Amino acid sequence: MQLSKLEQKMYDGEMGEGARLSMEILAALGKIYDANRMIPVSSAQIAGVSYKTIGDAGLEYLMHMAKSGAKVRIPSLLNPAGMDMAQWREMKIPEKFAKKQIEVLDAYAAMGITMSCTCTPYLVGLRPKVGEHIAWAESSAIAFANSVLGARTNREGGPSALAAAVCGVTPEYGFHMDENRICDFLVEAEAELKTTADFGAMGYHLGSIVKNGNPAFTGIRNASEDRLKALGAAMAASGSVALFNVQGATPEYTVSEGAQKISFTEKDLKETKAKMNSGENPDLITIGCPHASIGEIKEVADIVEGKKVGCDLWVCTARQTKAVADKKGYTAIIEKAGGRVVADTCMVVCPLEEMGYKVTGCNSGKAAKYLSSLCKQKVMFGNPGDIICK
Ligand code: F3S
Repeated sequence: MQLSKLEQKMYDGEMGEGARLSMEILAALGKIYDANRMIPVSSAQIAGVSYKTIGDAGLEYLMHMAKSGAKVRIPSLLNPAGMDMAQWREMKIPEKFAKKQIEVLDAYAAMGITMSCTCTPYLVGLRPKVGEHIAWAESSAIAFANSVLGARTNREGGPSALAAAVCGVTPEYGFHMDENRICDFLVEAEAELKTTADFGAMGYHLGSIVKNGNPAFTGIRNASEDRLKALGAAMAASGSVALFNVQGATPEYTVSEGAQKISFTEKDLKETKAKMNSGENPDLITIGCPHASIGEIKEVADIVEGKKVGCDLWVCTARQTKAVADKKGYTAIIEKAGGRVVADTCMVVCPLEEMGYKVTGCNSGKAAKYLSSLCKQKVMFGNPGDIICK
């Protein structure tokens, strides 16, 4: 693999230990995937932020990187942490967890990373253009960036995204190259998809079929950004989809001649939603996986305005989006109804199970998948208007 003069200097340790460690990771990845060279990336989005997911081993690695002088050279944003940095006490996050979480964020801050703590960087100003090379690590953000924005990123892990942030480059392979962006599944969406939850359910069903393939969709007529965000997130969770095309809605639509054909029928939609639902009453309702857009927060505010919610309710979002919701009065409406707009974290990466919750409601295919598998929750799945306890 050819390295430029600057990349070689980093590799040889002339730019400090942090850069050396980072270039070593990138060069090793390049070797594994047979890349010929590094290419510049314009931004990094770094996962591995919640103490719940990285534990002490992850924290030690980050502290080591920070101590070795690693500094990012490109705009670099963080995935959600394990708690809302402003409301963690009111939310009853255990003190011990909070202490460790703050140490994780301090290590990232020392490396110059923006404390965005969101899985939707594209909703808070980091919106790469078609063809732009980036190194993002959050699976739902990868699917959105590759598919809806037409940018180019591999499925980075936390360490490789951090390494790309420090070095400003990534090895050229995978989704950075035209030939790997062709769809090998063709999905006819026959079911009538009326809501974001329907898109999440379709993604939940299809991800387990296409696995790490690239599905292209025909027959989708009402594909808003929020719905495509839900679709990609669910397929990335039940499978490991990193790129999908939607005819008429995404900047790319390239299907291989031998693409495997699949139909998603009304029956599939009904059966999937039934499968995702435990039928038990929730003690917590969560909206915002991926993090809610301002439109999704407004939808919840409209539902609960003038009412009292009968269980806990969190609307998870980016801190910047929450600031907009605060200004528009949506947060006040949700709080008056007994809910909360939660920033910096989400239902999956916060220590939900330690907080005593047992049954969690959601309208997200990705959340439904992970709440049951990673958070020991029974799940209630449906549209916000149907699942918010009245
Ligand atoms: Fe984001 Fe958490 Fe869902 S990181 S995509 S809200 S599981």
